[in-house]
Amino acid sequence: MPTPHNNAQKGQIAKTVLMPGDPLRAKFIADTFLQDAVLVNEVRGMLAYTGTYNGKPVTVMGSGMGMPSIGIYSYELFKEYDVDRIIRIGSAGSYSSDAKIYDVVLATSAVSESTYAKVQSGYDKDESYPSKALNDSLRAAAKRLGINMIEGAIHSSDVFYRQPSDEKPTYWEKLRDERGCLAVEMESFALFANASVLGKEAACLLTISDSFISPEITTAEERQTCFTNMMKIALENL
Ligand code: ADE
Repeated sequence: MPTPHNNAQKGQIAKTVLMPGDPLRAKFIADTFLQDAVLVNEVRGMLAYTGTYNGKPVTVMGSGMGMPSIGIYSYELFKEYDVDRIIRIGSAGSYSSDAKIYDVVLATSAVSESTYAKVQSGYDKDESYPSKALNDSLRAAAKRLGINMIEGAIHSSDVFYRQPSDEKPTYWEKLRDERGCLAVEMESFALFANASVLGKEAACLLTISDSFISPEITTAEERQTCFTNMMKIALENL
């Protein structure tokens, strides 16, 4: 049942979907971790592969950047492809000394200035939530693998490049100190809102790729390889 954005047939998408932002990371996961992976979507280059991991069916598909993009793909996966759960596996910029480069963060909520949920369903709060059961299961998977995760609220931002401002405290210090946000990414608020409204499960694992408090940054290549811890947790959870 192809949609305007996805030409996979209905049975070609597994009940669990892992969603990195970058479609090439979906390819990397399929090539590195999955058995018998088949390319099931390439509309707009938003690659999706379905295969198995330890015999369990799974799809990995890019979400693109930002809430409009993940909003479209996740809605269609839940609604048109009967997907039960989506685990976003992404990168984030740290707002806190508690979240260091390459740390894995499990989101317990997403705070956002986005109008996505209000426009989509009338949900007028600025915080949306992942599935508790799925977070419990990811926590257990990380423990089995001996991989440390930190947990907390995250900021789902609509803007990557903000104009510099002299405001003190800065917007991100306020999000950290008043709302408890550990880090910033750009998708989870919409993903969690879609899952809630459709009665499905969603969660988000992030690897810290850059920091607002220290100048370290990572290269695309480092990110690719170091993100494997997060991918292993998501796959172990199957
Ligand atoms: N993802 C990774 N780093 C980010 C940042 N600094 N802002 C928004 N999203 C991000």
